[in-house]
Amino acid sequence: MDINQIFENNRRWISDRLKIDSNYFVKLSKSQHPEVLYIGCSDSRVSAEELMGVQPGEVFVHRNIANMVPNTDLSAMSVINYAVSQLNVSHIVICGHYGCGGVVAAMQSSDFGILNPWLRNIRDVYRLHKTELDLINITEERYKRLVELNVEEQCVNVIKTSDVQKAYNERKIKVHGWVFDIHSGKLIDLKIDFDKILKKIMEIYQII
Ligand code: CO
Repeated sequence: MDINQIFENNRRWISDRLKIDSNYFVKLSKSQHPEVLYIGCSDSRVSAEELMGVQPGEVFVHRNIANMVPNTDLSAMSVINYAVSQLNVSHIVICGHYGCGGVVAAMQSSDFGILNPWLRNIRDVYRLHKTELDLINITEERYKRLVELNVEEQCVNVIKTSDVQKAYNERKIKVHGWVFDIHSGKLIDLKIDFDKILKKIMEIYQII
């Protein structure tokens, strides 16, 4: 890739936007009011805004390897805090994707150096759901299921935060678990029963 091409693309993008609305950047620069916080994987093929068909200003985005929400990760915690407490988003989406390299790596008995502590969060998800996962004979299908279960566990991690618990009590903020099927381009709603999970875990994790 010619890196200069990116600047050429940018110039074209600016002119395309201005053709539609000459005040586009004036409006864009004023403020942001996204209603959705999207937490997804850094994978280059899972381009958040493009797959959702949303415009700048509509979704607050956080991406890392395997769409994780570790409770000691200052970056993820800060993003959640800002989105929930300052931007007042109504929805938080955790979006995983089939064919996730992070999930596959976590299933290998290999030393990944600095990535080990990060990937261990996924290994913990595997441990929590080992009985179900070990019953799946086809490796590919087992990875797919772990992607889904990882999304579910990261939704639980989101619910564990005081910001989200507070927002749930005040305005019934919603947490959604989605998977992007990289083979078809389809976005799948895992239909995670947020209220059910909440009731089940609140005895342990309630802090508000
Ligand atoms: Co991934």
